[in-house]
Amino acid sequence: MAALSRRSFGKLLGSGMAVATLRPALAKGPAAPAAGRSARPAAAPSAPAAGPVRLSANENPYGPCPAALEAMREACGSAWRYPDEAADALRGDLARLHGLPADWFLLGDGSSEILKLAASAFAGPGRRLVTADPTFESVAAHAAAAGAEVTRVPLDAAFAHALSKMAAPDAGLVYLCNPNNPTASVTPKARMRAFLDAAPSVVLVDEAYHHYADSADYESVLPLVKTNAKLIVARTFSKIYGLAGARLGYAIAQPALLEKLSAQAAADTVNVFALAAGRESLADASWVAQGRTRNAQVRAHVVGELARRGFAAIPSQANFIMFETGREVRPLIAALAERGVQVGRRFPALPTHLRVTLGKPEQMERFLTEFAALTA
Ligand SMILES: Cc1ncc(COP(=O)(O)O)c(C=O)c1O
Repeated sequence: MAALSRRSFGKLLGSGMAVATLRPALAKGPAAPAAGRSARPAAAPSAPAAGPVRLSANENPYGPCPAALEAMREACGSAWRYPDEAADALRGDLARLHGLPADWFLLGDGSSEILKLAASAFAGPGRRLVTADPTFESVAAHAAAAGAEVTRVPLDAAFAHALSKMAAPDAGLVYLCNPNNPTASVTPKARMRAFLDAAPSVVLVDEAYHHYADSADYESVLPLVKTNAKLIVARTFSKIYGLAGARLGYAIAQPALLEKLSAQAAADTVNVFALAAGRESLADASWVAQGRTRNAQVRAHVVGELARRGFAAIPSQANFIMFETGREVRPLIAALAERGVQVGRRFPALPTHLRVTLGKPEQMERFLTEFAALTA
């Protein structure tokens, strides 16, 4: 299965080099339990059958693609080795996928590590962080811990970043999350381009939910790193690739900027299992396409059902939705948990909005049933 997907990766990229360079890093060591491997099913596990329905962490309920699971089992044979070659190989794959040199990529222990490195490198005393409110909070937390002032700029009325208020000459770092967590909204591409063209400071654009966005108003800013020496783009394998537990993410930026991030990093933070799974995940374009389709279908259904009952969702471009409940959400979140459905936490900037991850259809039916019972 691994060999097959490597071949399709080669086809996908139209390059024999992809196949040639993929082999060595994943070469099986002597300790791999061959019998155990073949005895195990290849199907992706997901939420346990019993227990609460977990719609709180924007995970992918379908998990990784089968080839990624198999690659993690195979990587047991390389567990005794430091991950340098495997990391180089994944960086090579990323370089081919995105059409950029390999030294424009820095791998992280999840994109969380990339966010922390950016905060450590560019925010601190006298170098404030400019971020949105609400948005993913970890960069602000790291910047504050580094002694930086944090300026939070409320999203605009359409839940886009209010970019005209986010350019600050004294900022060390501007953080933009697009699509944004927790609102699932996007900031229009023309405004993103104009902002990045003029930004006086380093800008970190977090594209964790990139694969789920299908609006004509959205685009990835990744190609702009070619001409923008102050732009860092963060991506993760935790969402569409279903590898949240394996921990793998990456930054894309020009090498001089990336060096400032890597200067803050510990060595070898990404393990051989995640690296092996990452390579197979990139090779399986069909898993991404299927994930997008499944997510879009579930999203349309849930948003429609909620609308039918009078609850308006912010247009979602992600694998979660956020909608107005018309009441303080804290008791609702607790009551749903009591009924076995875990949803997102309360966000102080939007105290009557609920964030719900899009799970499998049956999980969403359960959510809709319990939510209806509590709001009837
Ligand atoms: C916007 C955003 N960025 C980054 C992350 C961190 O992801 P990870 O560290 O798993 O790559 C998350 C996690 O949910 C997120 O929502």
